[in-house]
Amino acid sequence: MMDRVTDAGPSTPIVLGIETSCDETGVGLVRGNDLLADAVASSVDEHARFGGVVPEVASRAHLEAMVPTIERACTEAGVRLSDVDAIAVTSGPGLAGALMVGVASAKALSIALGRPLYGVNHLAAHVAVDQLEHGPLPEPTVALLVSGGHSSLLLVEDVTSAVTPLGQSIDDAAGEAFDKVARLLGLPFPGGPYIDRSARDGDPAYVEFPRGLTGPRDMERHRYDFSFSGLKTAVARWVEARQRDGLPVPVADVAASFQEAVADVLTRKAVLACRERGVDTLLIGGGVAANSRLRAMAEQRCADAGIAVRVPRPSLCTDNGAMVAALGSEMVARGRPASSLGLPADSSMPVSEVLAG
Ligand code: KG4
Ligand code: ZN
Repeated sequence: MMDRVTDAGPSTPIVLGIETSCDETGVGLVRGNDLLADAVASSVDEHARFGGVVPEVASRAHLEAMVPTIERACTEAGVRLSDVDAIAVTSGPGLAGALMVGVASAKALSIALGRPLYGVNHLAAHVAVDQLEHGPLPEPTVALLVSGGHSSLLLVEDVTSAVTPLGQSIDDAAGEAFDKVARLLGLPFPGGPYIDRSARDGDPAYVEFPRGLTGPRDMERHRYDFSFSGLKTAVARWVEARQRDGLPVPVADVAASFQEAVADVLTRKAVLACRERGVDTLLIGGGVAANSRLRAMAEQRCADAGIAVRVPRPSLCTDNGAMVAALGSEMVARGRPASSLGLPADSSMPVSEVLAG
């Protein structure tokens, strides 16, 4: 699968990337900025009846999926394991047990093949993956990463070594809010795509839901932070009041109004960060980047502010191995030293640590 034609020749190293921070077992192969393969096995169906990811279930699923997913990636790329020049793996942040499966597998491969190992930060990998689709990332870039596990605003001055957190969610992640509100509305898990679809037939101004952390005092203390738990509670109260009154819940209108509140806050703060930091590129990644309203609003507001928006295609926005391989490839290209074989699975790895020691 060659998506962009670049000049990565046969002497450019092939990097294999492994991602297991949550419920996707991802194995990607890249050469330079060329995507060779992106194999993903998801355990999402096994978590659906719990309404959220169950860590033990995810870990076991990674263990079972790892070898077949590596084999699938190699077949897709027409590459043998012995052709791989370096291994990259998500060292953190994520679910501890899930990360351990990926890290242990990557160490085994590194030893067996005699190739260097790069333990990388999952959030920085969400940023680096865009290079596979849109080419070299302008630096600095502001990145808005929104998924079931994270909502972060980052200043990326060097994706391999200088990533600074500007803000993050102080409670629920954006995707988590989508999933919880979907549940309230009787929509399936994971709820984001269902809310997105339902909202198309709804009125985004039907209910004026709260915009968390946007008041004057919050803008002093939490300028680039997000909060979605108050919004989720507001939706719950609104739905309960409606049911108490014996009235039907207008699902599409509530979905559209909720989605509008999330997209408004995310894009408002992302554009503000770009303006205040003098950055003219905004990258959006993570599963919620697939949201149609978020994308449309980001494009509109960024166009008004003279900011270029980059959003990788949906399969590269959700967790995958290609993103880890992309960051590993950039580490190799910039001559960063490899990690030690003692590298940890660090569930709370700070984003300022792009490469594990
Ligand atoms: O990146 P991702 O696969 O990583 C995890 O956090 O596991 O993101 C999944 C999240 C879920 O919360 C899902 O509801 C949300 O992304 N999501 C969406 C959309 N597609 C996926 N949220 C809003 N709109 C969408 N179209
Ligand atoms: Zn992620």
